[in-house]
Amino acid sequence: MNPTQKLILGIESSCDETAAAVVADGERVLSSVVASQIEIHRKYGGVVPELASREHLRQIVPVVREAIDQAHITLHDLDAIAVTQGPGLVGALLVGLTYGKALALALGKPLVAVNHLAGHVHAVFLEACATGDRRPELPTICLIVSGGHTVIYEVQNKATNGARQFSYTRIGGTRDDAAGEAYDKVARLLALGYPGGPVIDKLAAHGNPHAIRFAEPKIRDSHHDFSFSGIKTAVLYHIQKHPELQPEITARKEAIARGERGAEALRKLCTPATLDLIASFQRSVVTNLVTSTLAAAQEAGARSILVSGGVAANTELRATFEREAKKLNIETFFPSRALSTDNAAMIAAAGYSLFAAGEFEDATLDPVPNLPLV
Ligand code: KG4
Ligand code: ZN
Repeated sequence: MNPTQKLILGIESSCDETAAAVVADGERVLSSVVASQIEIHRKYGGVVPELASREHLRQIVPVVREAIDQAHITLHDLDAIAVTQGPGLVGALLVGLTYGKALALALGKPLVAVNHLAGHVHAVFLEACATGDRRPELPTICLIVSGGHTVIYEVQNKATNGARQFSYTRIGGTRDDAAGEAYDKVARLLALGYPGGPVIDKLAAHGNPHAIRFAEPKIRDSHHDFSFSGIKTAVLYHIQKHPELQPEITARKEAIARGERGAEALRKLCTPATLDLIASFQRSVVTNLVTSTLAAAQEAGARSILVSGGVAANTELRATFEREAKKLNIETFFPSRALSTDNAAMIAAAGYSLFAAGEFEDATLDPVPNLPLV
């Protein structure tokens, strides 16, 4: 082990993933362990906060232990502990944060408090470090798009020594549902299982995205804000207006109850009309996300665009961003799937910047469910 490298343990528990990771110097991922709760929340079609907190309690100790073991270190080798302070579900945050505080106290190590959204930004840089790709140039516009968040930030570097210490300006965000939430709700309406994003992503490729035109959301005062609840309601009305879609919805519900929830199995139970509806829904969401983000990037004179969060895995979103941003001479960066969904490596990477700046916390640290990113 290199004695000069700084080892940060990241702990993440803001929503439905219990995660721990060890990252060296904010750049090299030595381990990243994620215990997903999808199976627990699946039958409710969304995250149930109370169940999430209880599962974090069950998972936190083995997950941290696993991250330490996989990194081939001991707890005493750590230089600091980074915990997610917010935003997120308060009961869920409390588990990781309390565990991190206790660990820091017991080991006599510094504690740093990370904003979950800053973690998503750092995930993109971590990916570039891991793959040896070019690092995104600043200033940059970052779209964080997941089941809990849909928000655009302008990111600037505030460090003068080349360290990755960012300042963030919120440019826009959703006025109602997050984009991932819209995917999950539409999947529920159409009986496509939970989470909805990955299945809709695959099925959309088989439909005509121009078949149904959804009205553009009208948002007053800002052209960088999003609204996704309208499109979800439009899908609901469409289903109500087309009772002939009901038998296949029932057939898919039954298939899912039997455990047949793969995209291929579900595709066989979708008529062309449903595949068109799915493709049109996705096209509308993707167009919305890309148009607003590109407008923000142009206004900010951004050199690059970062897209992070669970929905960043979407095939059409990636392709559309790459194609449209290229026309404007802006490079787009996406983390790998493992780094774009919730993980603790991104928390450790963001925590390293705070550690380097000496921004330490004490035992009075509390979770903040609506923590703003600044
Ligand atoms: O970041 P994430 O794992 O968890 C949080 O929400 O924090 O994101 C999960 C969300 C879910 O809403 C899921 O449906 C969506 O990301 N998602 C996708 C895709 N994969 C996951 N949405 C669209 N296309 C995908 N390929
Ligand atoms: Zn997240």
